[in-house]
Amino acid sequence: MKHFTSVVLFGAAVVALVSAAGTEGEISFEYHRYEELRKALVSVWLQCPTISRIYTIGESFEGRELLVLEMTDNPGTHEPGEPEFKYIANMHGNEAVGRELLIYLAQYLCNQYQQGNETIINLVHNTRIHFMPSMNPDGFEKAASQPGEIKDWFVGRSNAQGVDLNRNFPDLDRIIYLNEREGGANNHLLQNMKKAVDENTKLAPETKAVIHWIMDIPFVLSANLHGGDVVANYPYDETRTGSTHEYSSSPDDVTFKSVARAYSMYNPIMSDPNRSPCRKNDDDSSFKDGITNGGAWYSVPGGMQDFNYLSSNSFEITLELSCDKFPSEDTLKTYWEQNRNSLVNYIEQVHRGVKGFVRDLQGNPISNASISVEGIDHDITTAKDGDYWRLLAPGNYKVGASAPGYLTVIKKVAIPFSPATRVDFELESLMERKEEEREELMDWWKMMSETLNF
Ligand SMILES: *[C@@H]1O[C@H](CO)[C@@H](O)[C@H](O)[C@H]1NC(C)=O
Ligand SMILES: *[C@@H]1O[C@H](CO)[C@@H](O)[C@H](O)[C@H]1NC(C)=O
Ligand SMILES: [Zn+2]
Repeated sequence: MKHFTSVVLFGAAVVALVSAAGTEGEISFEYHRYEELRKALVSVWLQCPTISRIYTIGESFEGRELLVLEMTDNPGTHEPGEPEFKYIANMHGNEAVGRELLIYLAQYLCNQYQQGNETIINLVHNTRIHFMPSMNPDGFEKAASQPGEIKDWFVGRSNAQGVDLNRNFPDLDRIIYLNEREGGANNHLLQNMKKAVDENTKLAPETKAVIHWIMDIPFVLSANLHGGDVVANYPYDETRTGSTHEYSSSPDDVTFKSVARAYSMYNPIMSDPNRSPCRKNDDDSSFKDGITNGGAWYSVPGGMQDFNYLSSNSFEITLELSCDKFPSEDTLKTYWEQNRNSLVNYIEQVHRGVKGFVRDLQGNPISNASISVEGIDHDITTAKDGDYWRLLAPGNYKVGASAPGYLTVIKKVAIPFSPATRVDFELESLMERKEEEREELMDWWKMMSETLNF
């Protein structure tokens, strides 16, 4: 990425090398303040250097780095055909469990990879995984600095400017709801508007950095980790009518429910139908099997989840992991045990649906081609190498590939639960088609004139 800070990280690496000596591979179930978070990521990188990389996508308002740990077989590059996945935690700085779980998860994957765990080796080899343990490091430091075990419910939620980052994204729901009624794009609603994003003074630096990240990398699936309740929440988050509670389905409602369940079902607390609400007066009536539609629970305008779906190819859900936002340190190991299988299983959902390449008849990749599915009003687009991933629940579908200047091709595809079905498309350009038609006409003319002898 643009702001790669290898020099800074090298300095940190030396420090970590010393402090991590003797504890290699051990997961320490404790809170990590800003410097400790960096050291923990660096120690994973030092332990598993061939499958990991650390980079930063920018800085918080107070100048802390927005660190990312990447895990894959060829860190640092997008491999054609390999899907990309991301977890972002702690965008509300006082919601601390997700931040720690991502550190433990990185350590776990590195350990299991080294121990030869086939599931993990396959996952790492076939996926490019990105972890951002904290999108709001300033808020976390504020929340964590409060004395004592009991933390305030709100302190540290916002960034250092007082901006709630999960209300700060461009409100693309309003645009899609308008387009649904009046016609218009059904995907990539922020296309060609990067400049407008950069110049928008209402967007926090953390938000801007993440918007660029979302738009630069061809993410397929992601989740956004929060705390304060226990449920997997899926799009849309903002209601169509503006009412506070209203089921707000996206065109991919079936697929979203399926991937959200793939998280909740491996978490024994989240999926427990008899779990009592976090607080006596909480309204959990929209929760079913540990999942909920966002709008049915409560409407959230300007959230990151819907922004992913409406501005990029990434399908994102929001995970609420704990009733307490900042629980005591001795409970962290329990949260890890509750969520470990869910966290791994959710990443594996990236290998579902249909995937492949779109090329022209000469075999050149066609980037930014549209992949559409009959009956689902949400297209996705091909990445730079013509590669695409279209998440879908099991079933029979008609999948089309189209690009300006080419003839559209539609194929019937049967999709099992997993793995993804491979379907490639070869598109004939309209110019080639015209050339062929001209040649056919010439041949015909020649034959006719020979036959008729004129
Ligand atoms: C390998 O990893 C998977 C996924 O986390 C896990 O369920 C399984 O128990 C691991 N296998 C071993 C032998 O540890
Ligand atoms: C991608 O294709 C869409 C529709 O064909 C077009 O509006 C958009 O400008 C293209 N984007 C890029 C980056 O070429
Ligand atoms: Zn939150």
